[in-house]
Amino acid sequence: MRMRIAISVMLVVLVLAAGSSSAAAAGKWRKRVHAPCKRLVFYFHDILYNGHNAKNATAAIVGSPNWGNRTILAGQNHFGDMVVFDDPITMDNNLHSPAVGRAQGFYLYDKKDIFTAWLGFSFVFNSTEHKGSINFAGADPLMNKTRDISVIGGTGDFFMARGVATLSTDAFEGEVYFRLCVDIKLYECW
Ligand SMILES: *[C@@H]1O[C@H](CO)[C@@H](O)[C@H](O)[C@H]1NC(C)=O
Ligand SMILES: *[C@@H]1O[C@H](CO)[C@@H](O)[C@H](O)[C@H]1NC(C)=O
Ligand SMILES: *[C@@H]1O[C@H](CO)[C@@H](O)[C@H](O)[C@H]1NC(C)=O
Ligand SMILES: *[C@@H]1O[C@H](CO)[C@@H](O)[C@H](O)[C@H]1NC(C)=O
Repeated sequence: MRMRIAISVMLVVLVLAAGSSSAAAAGKWRKRVHAPCKRLVFYFHDILYNGHNAKNATAAIVGSPNWGNRTILAGQNHFGDMVVFDDPITMDNNLHSPAVGRAQGFYLYDKKDIFTAWLGFSFVFNSTEHKGSINFAGADPLMNKTRDISVIGGTGDFFMARGVATLSTDAFEGEVYFRLCVDIKLYECW
């Protein structure tokens, strides 16, 4: 009798232990709630060199496929063109607002059948409001109204920043000017 009680107590303890450890495992793999710890919205302005605006241009085609050149974006949805930029960043959508930093990097057109690009760039801040940089990378299917790219890191005020930036084309004029709205949501803040 005593033996039986002892065995059932042991069984109960075992079942409880197994139950609590599987609950812990379930907790570990529970879907995390996605809420940003910081949100910032900026605009940046890209003026592409077109043969006549060397003074105002903030971006230049630096590589082109053999069937194109570095003055005009190539046919077939600009496939193979690579553009380097140093664009002013503003807090609102006005090109003439004071710049709070520069968006510096490149984009390359990487599909023949549709307009789509790959972006790699940094926001470099040196204003009273922000100091440091935020680094971005990702695919930019630019015909989509919004597209998400990764925030892969940061320095200074943005030390170790990670998250997602939602891009939207706020305006464009032919192939010479475009303005992007960058809605940055950081999910890791220090
Ligand atoms: C350069 O920018 C200024 C000021 O926005 C504008 O008046 C001028 O027409 C532009 N020049 C060229 C060549 O685009
Ligand atoms: C570049 O290509 C465009 C379109 O094919 C052409 O009109 C233009 O003359 C070319 N420019 C140069 C400098 O070769
Ligand atoms: C940042 O701005 C300050 C003050 O205008 C200037 O002295 C400094 O050289 C700038 N630093 C960079 C990295 O541009
Ligand atoms: C772009 O839009 C298409 C069609 O609306 C959608 O299927 C796709 O997921 C979007 N891609 C991105 C990266 O947002």
